[in-house]
Amino acid sequence: MATTREPIGVIGTGYVGLVTAAGFAELGSDVYCIDIDEAKIEGLRRGEIPIYEPGLEELVAKNSGRMHFSTDIGEALEHARLLFVAVGTPPTYSGDADLSAVYAVVDAMPPSDHHALVMKSTVPVGTGEAIRRRFEETGKSGFRYVSCPEFLKEGSAVQDFLHPDRVVIGDEGDWAGDAVAELYAPLDAPLVRTDIASAEMVKLASNAFLATKISFINEIANVCEETGADVIEVARGMGLDDRIGPKFLQPGIGFGGSCFPKDVSALKQLAGNSGYHFQLLNAVIEVNELQKRRVIGKLEKHLGELVGKRIALLGLAFKPNTNDMREASSLVLSARLQAAGATVSVYDPIAEDEARELIQGVRFATDALDCARDADAVVIVTEWDEFRSLDLGELAGVMAGQLIIDGRNALDPQAAVAAGLRYESVGRRLMTPPGQPYVGPERRTV
Ligand SMILES: NC(=O)c1ccc[n+]([C@@H]2O[C@H](COP(=O)([O-])OP(=O)(O)OC[C@H]3O[C@@H](n4cnc5c(N)ncnc54)[C@H](O)[C@@H]3O)[C@@H](O)[C@H]2O)c1
Repeated sequence: MATTREPIGVIGTGYVGLVTAAGFAELGSDVYCIDIDEAKIEGLRRGEIPIYEPGLEELVAKNSGRMHFSTDIGEALEHARLLFVAVGTPPTYSGDADLSAVYAVVDAMPPSDHHALVMKSTVPVGTGEAIRRRFEETGKSGFRYVSCPEFLKEGSAVQDFLHPDRVVIGDEGDWAGDAVAELYAPLDAPLVRTDIASAEMVKLASNAFLATKISFINEIANVCEETGADVIEVARGMGLDDRIGPKFLQPGIGFGGSCFPKDVSALKQLAGNSGYHFQLLNAVIEVNELQKRRVIGKLEKHLGELVGKRIALLGLAFKPNTNDMREASSLVLSARLQAAGATVSVYDPIAEDEARELIQGVRFATDALDCARDADAVVIVTEWDEFRSLDLGELAGVMAGQLIIDGRNALDPQAAVAAGLRYESVGRRLMTPPGQPYVGPERRTV
């Protein structure tokens, strides 16, 4: 890779910041990574990666000579003119985005005619304009601003950085937008150059659309359960229409994570604050909340009251290949189950440390079989590969009951019933071992 690439600063070394930093270092830039979390920076200096993200540790190690870690923002300002901002923008109680970390960075900037903030954090439409005004009011009107929203997916973030579907750059037509475009040029991705507000909206609208697609297929799955259709067949038939496409048509027990819930809510609030009632997003959010709770109804259908029942939750992270627990369905499920009087055991291959901070009153098991031991029912909450390759005979052997609820349609139903399990999934009929009665709606013959 070229070694004469422009040095950059990255402020905030979380999922987005660290991946962005390692990615640009891989492309040849010196990257000055800044965070307020001293322990995190100390760890990164020792080569310790604070998050689980496939390929990230190797990429940081490979480019360690070009990656510089500090808590002093002055270091980034000294060496780089482009400062990528990747600090968190979590939801507030009102559902709006909390921009306090973003403004902490904005206000830490000195007056300058040769620096630019490049916003990777997901922010409401209008934030760029508000920051530009803030710069003007505080004698920093020479500071440039670029919106460059991030679309990476946790679990495949390194791949997504190196092979993006598109790069979106919103700017005011000055040097900074061109400099950001130049940095991304080696990735050869379709480039959308636009104004700042539109770039901000691309990000929010993309996440809201994907969340809508998930809630839509979840509702189709729920209707399939009532009518005897099989949502896997339905999604396959729908997905072959290239106006629809097969992605994000996998039903489950609700979306979580650090982005979809908060970005959908932020867009809904943004619309509301501007006087527009975004009706569709209300439904998307409500369907998602209800979907997380549907597992409880399925358990009760088979087990009756859950008081004293032992339930094993396999998977805690909001999706596989990450240790991110933000808004994970497991949080709702473990709390609801305990409120209903059940005894809960849990297991996750990677996210146990993070989960221990958020989930109380459950038994943390050492592996899937340990988790399922003596359970009346097992629920697949996160579709880790490890669970797909479970020996279901062994699993059935350690359980006290026979019920498995596959919240992600991850297992082979035939293998489950062959192992003697009653297999309940999402959007498909209940499958029971031979000799046990089928419980559920009859297939319609019309
Ligand atoms: N995680 C994702 O998959 C993803 C994808 C696309 C966009 N985003 C957006 O990117 C932004 C960052 O998300 P994340 O998941 O990487 O967050 P994160 O919480 O993992 O990381 C944020 C980091 O910023 C640091 N920080 C906070 N205030 C700071 C300050 N004033 N100066 C320096 N560092 C500071 C924190 O210590 C933390 O290390 C959010 O706006 C998010 O919506 C996230």
